[in-house]
Amino acid sequence: MAHVPCLITVQGWKKFVLVLICLCILIYCITSLFSHDRQMWDVNFNDWNVTGDNCGVTCKPEQHTFYIKTGDSNLYGPTICYDGKIYISNELKNYGRGLNILLIDDKTKKVTDIRSFDTYEDEAPLIRFLKKTVPENGIILVASFDDASQNLKEDSRRWLKLYGSKAVTDLSYREGFVMVGQRGLNEGLAVEFVVKKRNAAFAPYVEKAGCFDIPLGEQHSVELLLPDVLYKQEISMGEVLLNCGYEGVCQADSFPVRIDTGQSDKISFQICVNGHVMMSDALNKGGRGFNVLVIDSVHLQPTATIHVDTYNYDSTDLEVFLESLNKGDIVIAVVRDEASRKLSHPAKELLNKLGSGHIQNLKFRDVWYFIGQNGINGFTTYEQISYAGVDGEWPKALENSFCVPKKITGRQIIPDPEVHRNDERRGFCKKYKGYYELCDPAHVDDIITPVKILSQQLETNKIYSTPILIIPGMNHNALVRTLQTTLMQPGINTDFVTIFWDEKFPEYGELAGLFKFQNQSIPGSLRYQDQVMKAISAGLRLFPEKDYFIVLEEDLLLTADFLNFMSQCVETLGMDESLIGVSAWNINGYDELSGNNSLMYRVEEFPGLGFMMKRSALKLLIEPQNFKTCCTHRVWIGWNVKPELEGEMLVPDVSRVFRQAIQGAGNTDEYIQAIFNRPRVANLQSDVLLTGMNKLTNTAYEELIVDDLKQSIVVLPGEITLCYQSGGFIKEFNQSSQGTPISVFYKQDHTHDYTLLNKLIKCFGFYVPDKYPPRNLHKGLFRYYFMKRNIYLVGSETIYYPYLPQDKISEVNPGTGGG
Ligand SMILES: *[C@@H]1O[C@H](CO)[C@@H](O)[C@H](O)[C@H]1NC(C)=O
Ligand SMILES: *[C@@H]1O[C@H](CO)[C@@H](O)[C@H](O)[C@H]1NC(C)=O
Ligand SMILES: *[C@@H]1O[C@H](CO)[C@@H](O)[C@H](O)[C@H]1NC(C)=O
Ligand SMILES: *[C@@H]1O[C@H](CO)[C@@H](O)[C@H](O)[C@H]1NC(C)=O
Repeated sequence: MAHVPCLITVQGWKKFVLVLICLCILIYCITSLFSHDRQMWDVNFNDWNVTGDNCGVTCKPEQHTFYIKTGDSNLYGPTICYDGKIYISNELKNYGRGLNILLIDDKTKKVTDIRSFDTYEDEAPLIRFLKKTVPENGIILVASFDDASQNLKEDSRRWLKLYGSKAVTDLSYREGFVMVGQRGLNEGLAVEFVVKKRNAAFAPYVEKAGCFDIPLGEQHSVELLLPDVLYKQEISMGEVLLNCGYEGVCQADSFPVRIDTGQSDKISFQICVNGHVMMSDALNKGGRGFNVLVIDSVHLQPTATIHVDTYNYDSTDLEVFLESLNKGDIVIAVVRDEASRKLSHPAKELLNKLGSGHIQNLKFRDVWYFIGQNGINGFTTYEQISYAGVDGEWPKALENSFCVPKKITGRQIIPDPEVHRNDERRGFCKKYKGYYELCDPAHVDDIITPVKILSQQLETNKIYSTPILIIPGMNHNALVRTLQTTLMQPGINTDFVTIFWDEKFPEYGELAGLFKFQNQSIPGSLRYQDQVMKAISAGLRLFPEKDYFIVLEEDLLLTADFLNFMSQCVETLGMDESLIGVSAWNINGYDELSGNNSLMYRVEEFPGLGFMMKRSALKLLIEPQNFKTCCTHRVWIGWNVKPELEGEMLVPDVSRVFRQAIQGAGNTDEYIQAIFNRPRVANLQSDVLLTGMNKLTNTAYEELIVDDLKQSIVVLPGEITLCYQSGGFIKEFNQSSQGTPISVFYKQDHTHDYTLLNKLIKCFGFYVPDKYPPRNLHKGLFRYYFMKRNIYLVGSETIYYPYLPQDKISEVNPGTGGG
């Protein structure tokens, strides 16, 4: 390489000077090679006689010969020859993927070990070999086969450099590597070669041969790089902490321990044993990563400590240390700052064997402490973990004192950690932004598990195997609340809950997964109503054998008894052909205008939002020609389900879903404001028994109304018109008649004449714009619950008008004239 400039043709004396310079460089190179007492040649002629004397190399008498050939792709094994003998070869079949290594003792000059490390798979065994097995000044001859780089990470490369390598930094996937190194050899002094792959699948194989002296060159001690282990006499005692802060006296054969994990990377951790601080940042070499203190189980005194920075370096030393414990040794461990980054799987397994039930949950910046014992049967109870925040915020510190017995009793099952960590949700939160509640650091680890229902009888209820179709809108935080309140329903079976997501946005599909719900993609639509229809069609196809479906539209919160409520309705629904479904939402369910949570109505409309419907009804609804006429409006305007769908819905007086207030542009419509942005009532009790369900079927309901009308107090429209004319509301009724229904009979010009009705109900606090009829009518009857009474507004064109008492007829008619 150095004589490349010589190839340039230059005239005259300049040429002479150049040649001279080149020669000098060449001589320098050669002498510097010899000054390091090592040399290497390319073996690029086919008749190299490796089996011949000295691996085919002639060296100075005190030198050692080698011949190393890398593997040829992943087909032909590597060869390592040392001092005339082949130790590793294709024929010997003692090679493997990764790095193949011959270990030579620097004193006897004999081969003491032949190993193969699959560094494609795992670097830990190699690190352990380089760090712990190879004695001081040991010499290694290395040949790669197939790929050696995939898992040759920071730590194993660092250790190869401690054997004199420099080139290993450049080793990449399926490239060749040849090396002769020595433990402690200064970086760059090893005999080595990396073959680059370029565009080929594998780097071509190379053969290198040469001579080396022992030692190979200038060395330094690697022992300084080994971990901070202290034994008995080396361990210092820290300040006194009376009884380690334990309140009470430890009995014989037990000793006091206090653990404090410190704060962030600022305040040190502390381990106190027998009334003295025994380990901290400032004491016995404690620090970032793993800190371990060993207590012998006979004298209950500290016998060893180790600190391993498992944030920066591999955990091999910790593993070796833990493996070397005596039977019965008690192990106190505390992590500090960050300890998870390089904590290996074998290290965690060792800790599991010592009684840890939670070490496998340790992630970035989590803190953890543990007291276990070599030979424990099961899992220790002296263990706690505290999780860092989603964005690596420092966790809450742990602090505790106990009396630890000579023999720690293990538990057969892992004790529940005091806090859970919801990695799935953390992952979701990292990926998608803007989920303020779901991803709130204080709640991100919450785990909601479905609650069982207590009653055996209810378990067989159809409702618990009824499909629930959730149709998200744009507000993702609102969707989270819908999902949360759905999952909280006692008896919920997540197999039947499906979220229908727009195929362009898989985010909601993943969200479904977090809640263990099912997901189904549907083609996107411009209008939410089209989305609803697509979801219902898909739902019907998905569950062809189901007769009932629950549909949840966007932005809903379910009350705690939502499913329980539906379970009480489903039977009535089945008994009555004239019912098509149950709504969970009462559009008239305002504060003060509803309030009897066991009361249900029959209404001739379709209030939507959250409902259960018969399959037959849904099928009719989604017929394209029907859908066009019935359902293109949002539900609050009203779905016109007639005439395709003859039938009524059951509606509770007190809603079982809560629709969040509508915000944002485009919703300034006074009517929408009136419907959604004023106080509404939703049931807050957990289990409500619906009474009178048997009176909700077709004929029974008519009897109930007639009974009520017959015993009702008739209030004259005149009294009420006074109220609305003065702009006031009805504030109270005659107290002594508490609970008695009130009826108001009023005059209509024809069946659909609601002019007067619209005015009358304003007195009760309802708001209905003139262009819309009042809601929740049943055969023209307007019914609701007000001041603990049933209120009936009976028009003259309804079938109920004949129940107007004879003596009042004359009083009703004149009162209507002025309307
Ligand atoms: C290689 O060397 C050995 C030992 O000296 C000899 O027996 C053998 O014939 C040689 N092989 C070749 C191909 O020269
Ligand atoms: C939807 O559910 C299927 C099967 O349950 C699952 O494999 C898939 O990952 C889910 N889709 C999304 C977007 O999470
Ligand atoms: C609530 O409604 C139910 C069912 O109609 C009825 O039995 C009950 O008496 C009502 N309660 C009150 C306080 O009005
Ligand atoms: C209230 O009702 C009671 C009994 O129903 C009746 O005797 C009384 O006169 C009523 N009072 C008023 C102020 O209407």
